[in-house]
Amino acid sequence: MTTTNASVRKAVIPAAGLGTRFLPATKAMPKEMLPVVDKPAIQYVVEEAVSVGLSDVLMITGRNKRALEDHFDRVPALEAMLEAKGDTTKLESIQAASNLGDIHYVRQGDPKGLGHAVLRAKQHVGLEPFAVLLGDDLIDPRDDLLSTMIEVQAKTGGSVVALIEVEPSQISSYGCADIEEIEGESYVRVKHLVEKPEPHEAPSNLALIGRYVLHPAVFEVLEGTEPGRGGEIQLTDALQELAAGDADGHGVYGVVFRGRRYDTGDKLSYLKACLELACDSEDLGPRLRDWLPEFTASLSK
Ligand code: UTP
Repeated sequence: MTTTNASVRKAVIPAAGLGTRFLPATKAMPKEMLPVVDKPAIQYVVEEAVSVGLSDVLMITGRNKRALEDHFDRVPALEAMLEAKGDTTKLESIQAASNLGDIHYVRQGDPKGLGHAVLRAKQHVGLEPFAVLLGDDLIDPRDDLLSTMIEVQAKTGGSVVALIEVEPSQISSYGCADIEEIEGESYVRVKHLVEKPEPHEAPSNLALIGRYVLHPAVFEVLEGTEPGRGGEIQLTDALQELAAGDADGHGVYGVVFRGRRYDTGDKLSYLKACLELACDSEDLGPRLRDWLPEFTASLSK
């Protein structure tokens, strides 16, 4: 496949899932709009993309797209009201979301899986390598991941996934990678990928998290990818084809991430992520840290 030489410029953010683990909160609102401390999860993700120069963002939306579009749009009446009151802090906080670059939207229609959502980006992305960021995973802005992945993509010309080490018993919640080290390099080659394996069948304890930098050959593969686990068209299955060399995508590589990551995909991990981030915040952190030990002590009484 012929690709352009441009480095990665575009970010794709799938946000069309049904969010069933958060029902009823997600009945009328995408789960990516759930607040993490004081911003919707998706705003952290767009900020991360923009911070590494990916200011062309394509969101894949579902039936509840209105809240997403509204959040990243301006609200002149609210801005005027805050300006009149002289509340610059709040004014800046609402303007931050609408000043985040060029955000485009495309509908998925029927949410047939993450792979199907990514395929909806084909026309917008064209023949360039591109990043995919999932709103379930928040990466601490103090820790670098995406820019390293973009560098590895430029170096290898392939597709790059982000991996974390998990407890072996946890691997069945993730896509799992069988890898080999590359001499002299800090990234690895991915030999094989399997979606949510049982622990005894997992080739490693390296789990895929929601950051990808993909070769555009993935689109052709996705066009032929049959529904897999859960009856969904799985991105992992398409990447497995690229890893196996069955398609002309120059292989799949992995960056093992050891920085701070907050999982917001299910209720418990979401609550933990909110607490961790709130403890770190300048505004809420000191009061929350004072209160937490009192609260936990009261639990053991
Ligand atoms: P999940 O696997 O977490 O699915 O999707 P979900 O529907 O959002 O949530 P649950 O499992 O029902 O609670 C991972 C990411 O892929 C997107 C989701 O929006 C989420 O960001 N996605 C998933 C789509 O955009 N379309 C799909 O068809 C499936």
